[in-house]
Amino acid sequence: MAKSTKQVLVEAAAQARRRAVAPYSKFKVGAALLTRDGAIVTGANVESASYGLTCCAERVALFKALTEGHRQFVAVAVVARAAGGPMPCGACRQLLAEYAPAVRVWVADTRNLRRVRTFTVRRLLPAAFVTVP
Ligand code: THU
Repeated sequence: MAKSTKQVLVEAAAQARRRAVAPYSKFKVGAALLTRDGAIVTGANVESASYGLTCCAERVALFKALTEGHRQFVAVAVVARAAGGPMPCGACRQLLAEYAPAVRVWVADTRNLRRVRTFTVRRLLPAAFVTVP
């Protein structure tokens, strides 16, 4: 049977995770964004010795996609070695609410990529601040 879109995206995130640069936390995260036209844009977390400069996998993928011209997104997969899959942080939720509000958020643990939990951005960040008055 053909692989589902969900499985393809989760596996793309797992592959992207291998390029994470996480020498401090050692917590590697991969993300894969699916655009409306079917493109997949991936990212992984990049850490800094000045810890606060660290950028999460989700934001790396989103910034790559936006600056490559993509504006419409269908789903984002996020994968790490974390029970139940890694939950996006507050900063990533904010950016998803602004630039990818309609996506399904699929999270999975590297140890079982076939168990995927699904969230909406609205559920992750209700009543989001998305326009400057
Ligand atoms: N991290 C992500 O890349 N995405 C998440 O959803 C959670 C956290 C990264 C940031 C940092 O490099 C490491 O995980 C530990 O917080």
